[in-house]
Amino acid sequence: MDFKIATIPGDGIGPDIVREGCRVLEAVGKKFGHSFTFTETLAGGAAIDATGNPLPAETLDVCKKSDSVLLGAVGGPKWDNLPGSKRPEAALLGLRGEMKVYANLRPALMFKQLASACPLKAEIVEDGLDILIVRELTGGIYFGERGRSEDGTTAWDTEKYSRDEISRIVKIGFESAMKRKKRLCVVDKANILESSRLWREVTESMKGNYPAVELSYMYVDNAAMQLVRNPGQFDVIATSNMFGDILSDEASQVTGSIGMLASASLGDSGPGLYEPIHGSAPDIAGKDLANPLATILTCAMMLRYSLKAEREAVAVEAAVAAVLDAGWRTGDIAGDASRDKIVGTKKMGDLVVQALEQ
Ligand code: IPM
Ligand code: MG
Repeated sequence: MDFKIATIPGDGIGPDIVREGCRVLEAVGKKFGHSFTFTETLAGGAAIDATGNPLPAETLDVCKKSDSVLLGAVGGPKWDNLPGSKRPEAALLGLRGEMKVYANLRPALMFKQLASACPLKAEIVEDGLDILIVRELTGGIYFGERGRSEDGTTAWDTEKYSRDEISRIVKIGFESAMKRKKRLCVVDKANILESSRLWREVTESMKGNYPAVELSYMYVDNAAMQLVRNPGQFDVIATSNMFGDILSDEASQVTGSIGMLASASLGDSGPGLYEPIHGSAPDIAGKDLANPLATILTCAMMLRYSLKAEREAVAVEAAVAAVLDAGWRTGDIAGDASRDKIVGTKKMGDLVVQALEQ
């Protein structure tokens, strides 16, 4: 197969890590007889600097015509004072909305090789940590009506959900749970928010189709606490756009290795949007310090979900595991590794490519 991949290196460490992701895709392609054609395109701060627009029409066009999109990261202090619709983040929201990738899968996985990096007490995570957050991505308060009063003293944003927007996320929650430990927790704020009460109503109307799944509901404040008190109770969490944004950052930190976590954003058809969950880390951009493994694992998700190349996805994941087993670490996951095992972005990419070639 020849796969057409649109790449959006973006800002900060984005170019450093996307480069390694592409090299790994090429290596896995070579091993399994596929080729990849990459088309690099602009979004975020890089696009603002080049064109004045965070998401040029040409970028959307390239993305929509691809089999999948690999995005590094967008944003940085340089663009922080621009108005909302002109900020680099507007590119991300525009891409998600225009590509209609409404479901964001964010696995928070603790790699056993990196257990010592987990900030929780060993007894809390003795059974490991493996949570899948299914975050609604193209609705809710991120996309609802917002505004300011004429005198500028009052501002508002709106959380609004339709039954359809909810049911397609909850469905993915149930179906993912069926493939995992069969537990789904819908996280909301149904003691206060009417939209959350609709999430519960819709979920209740669907649960009969999934009798094998143990369903629970949890208020988001409690969920934030439970994630550090007893994260092992969670298998799949399905939740709204903003709650998913917040809880996925928390869950990633709980695993101790934010530099390792991947994500996939999917719609009904068309290309998926793939990005590591960490940000653009402008302070270490271009210094060969960033951890490329989150992006490499994001490429594995791309192989699995969009390119329907499961063996290839497993091969990439196994190569990452082999590199970690051999003790190689980037600075962010170094822990007490000896200095000669601490490597930069490029070398980490090399090691994964070598493991794939074996
Ligand atoms: C994320 C990020 C984005 C979000 C920002 C950069 C707009 O935090 O992907 O989690 O809030 O969705
Ligand atoms: Mg976030």
